[in-house]
Parts: sequence; C-alpha cells; structure tokens
Amino acid sequence: MAQKTTVPVIRARKGGAPLVMITAYDTPGARIADEGGADVILVGDSVGMVVLGYDDTLHVTLDDMAHHVAAAARARPSALLVADLPWLTYHLGPDDAVRNAATLVRAGAQAVKLEGGRRRVAVVQALVQAEIPVMGHLGLTPQSVHVMGGYRVQGQQADAARGLVDDATALVDAGVFAIVLEGIPAEVARLVTDAVAVPTIGIGAGPWCDGQVLVFHDVLGLEDRVLPRFVRRYASLKADAVAAVAAYAADVRARAFPADAESYHLGDATKAELGLSRTQSRLA
Ligand code: KIV
Repeated sequence: MAQKTTVPVIRARKGGAPLVMITAYDTPGARIADEGGADVILVGDSVGMVVLGYDDTLHVTLDDMAHHVAAAARARPSALLVADLPWLTYHLGPDDAVRNAATLVRAGAQAVKLEGGRRRVAVVQALVQAEIPVMGHLGLTPQSVHVMGGYRVQGQQADAARGLVDDATALVDAGVFAIVLEGIPAEVARLVTDAVAVPTIGIGAGPWCDGQVLVFHDVLGLEDRVLPRFVRRYASLKADAVAAVAAYAADVRARAFPADAESYHLGDATKAELGLSRTQSRLA
C-alpha cells in the first residue's frame, strides 16, 4: 500500500511536479481516484450539483458533507483527503467554523477547504490554531454565485487581478497550505502562483498553477449535460452506463437473462421430494 499523503507533503510540492487533485464523494469514487494516482481527493460541495441534483452548492449542509466525507474516507486512500466547508458553516465566526470543521475531521478529512480571501483571515487563523489544515479557494467561488451574478470568470480587470494576489497573500499569511484558483485568466493565476509560497491548484485557471483539479463526474463523462471550456473528458461513462442498462433491459425482456449458469438449482434428491423431474430446472 502506498504511503499516506500528508499536508506537509503537499505543501512541499510548491514549484515541483504538478499536483493532481480530483473530487470524490463516496467509497468507490475515492478508490478510483486513489488507484488512478491522485495526490489529493477533494470531497467538494460540488456533491450538491453532481450527486444530489441541486442547481447550486448553497443547499449542501454540514451533515451532507460529513456523510460523504465518511464514505470517501472508508476507501482509506493514500491521497490527502480534503473536505469542503459548505456555505454558512464558516461565515458566522471563527468558533462556529472550528466546530464545523472538526465535524469533517472526525468524519475522516485531513484538511478543510473554504472560499474567500482577506475577509476569511480570522477564520483561517482560528482553524490553524485548532490544528486543522486549511486549503483556500479564490476566483470564481461557487458559494458566492448570487453576489457574482452567475458563474463568471473573475479577475479580468487589473484591479481585480491585484485583489486576487492580495487575497492569496493574506490567506498564506493566515496559514493556508494550498490555494484553489477557479475560473480566472491564466495570466492572473500565474501572478498569484508566483506571489505565494504554497501550491496553487487550478480549475479553469490555465496551465501555470502548481496543480490542477477537476470534478470526478466531468473527468469520467458521468455528467454529460454541460461541458465547460476548462473540462477535459477522459471517458464517456454516462453513455456506457446507459448502453449497459439498455442491454440488461433488452435481455430481461427477451428472457435472455438470467441464463442457467447464472441461476441456483436444487439437488436431485430435493427435486424428487418436491415431485420435480431430474432435468426440470424451472418451476412450471
Ligand atoms: O466543490 C468542488 O468540487 C470544488 C472544486 C471545483 C475545486 O470546490
């Protein structure tokens, strides 16, 4: 079994071989991510959209996250397991944030991720004081969808780009060990990456980050309704799954499933006791 990846190991990868992060929300998903060689598995609040059927991440609760973190942790991945703090679990003050983060740590997370920059400094400091490692998340932060007016690329003007660098620097000073950069121009992600001493992990943030993250269902083509520009699909599992279910349905309807070899049978003595012939394999 590969050695368990820790926060210091990820932190030390700044400027080294690119970090691979992917989301997972349950035990088989975490096993696939781990066996595929991910360095970090993120139990993201994207679970709300790709698994639970919500239109945004704002509906995801702490209980939802704890449930999915525990399921992913049961895979015992060697990758670092990071859990998203969902909306309103860290906005009401540092004490509340620490208590809620502890729930996710007790569910199996090694670190938590939260969205926002300078205004999260006090919360990040409190979490780090409580020995809970924190990953930041800047740029297109989905929990701010209503403030942003939709899922729009951020940091496109010089002021906003400088603001992202300031946010990243403030998060690092507060103690984060890595920062996700989502939905920002590649040049801005490079400015941020060059400005901070911790790894940046991009999604829709170009090639110059210290690592990349994608959503499990996008990578595998389990989610086929939308294809954002930043997603590369490596499989078409939704199409494969639909074809498999259709083939199963056709076999059942044609009585081609189950075959004799896929059925259990009585022994000859019991058949005789029940008045069944030796060759009769199906009750009339
Ligand atoms: O919830 C999530 O999946 C995320 C990633 C997109 C970074 O936050």
